[in-house]
Amino acid sequence: MSGPARAARSRHRRDASVPPRARAARASILAAIADAAKNDCAADAKPKKGKGAPALFTAEQAELGKKTYEEKCAFCHAPDLNGRAGPALRGKFFAAPSHGYKLRDIFKIVAENMPATSPGSLSHEEYVQIMAYILLNNGYPAGDAAMTFEEISRSKVPLRFYEE
Ligand code: HEC
Repeated sequence: MSGPARAARSRHRRDASVPPRARAARASILAAIADAAKNDCAADAKPKKGKGAPALFTAEQAELGKKTYEEKCAFCHAPDLNGRAGPALRGKFFAAPSHGYKLRDIFKIVAENMPATSPGSLSHEEYVQIMAYILLNNGYPAGDAAMTFEEISRSKVPLRFYEE
């Protein structure tokens, strides 16, 4: 056999030798892509509550934060945090990945600029508790360890919405 024929045959053999494993790999990559697409849709329709969210505060902190939030913040940000005169403090627009917010960025706004009418007027503890309540409303679970002012001021954990 000479030249072209051998080339054709070896090309053929090369193709034939790609199989089983490579074909299986290709198939599983395609399946993974299809799955990811499906999951994306499923996530849009029905994200799992708190899935993948870190526990950063205690239930007690969030509970105390709820009280202060209702007194000091709800007037502008609404009792359900969905926004009124001030923007929503929960949900996919507040926590859009495209904003690239870290928790410390949001906490800085809370502790330095809010309440808008008297910035910085609450105690460190109250700000941390309100932050816990905001996180709870974005699907972060309560855990065993209390969040501290220091920690949350530095937290590089990305802001996300994990709810519903
Ligand atoms: C008098 C109305 C008012 C009160 C009370 C108030 N806010 Fe705000 N808040 C605003 C407004 C208006 C903005 C938007 C400011 C801007 O975009 O420059 C804002 C912005 C924010 C943001 C930034 C949101 C974002 O997506 O960038 C956070 C977080 C926030 N407020 C938290 C709080 C918390 C917590 C309290 C209570 C301690 C509070 N605010 C009290 C009016 C208020």
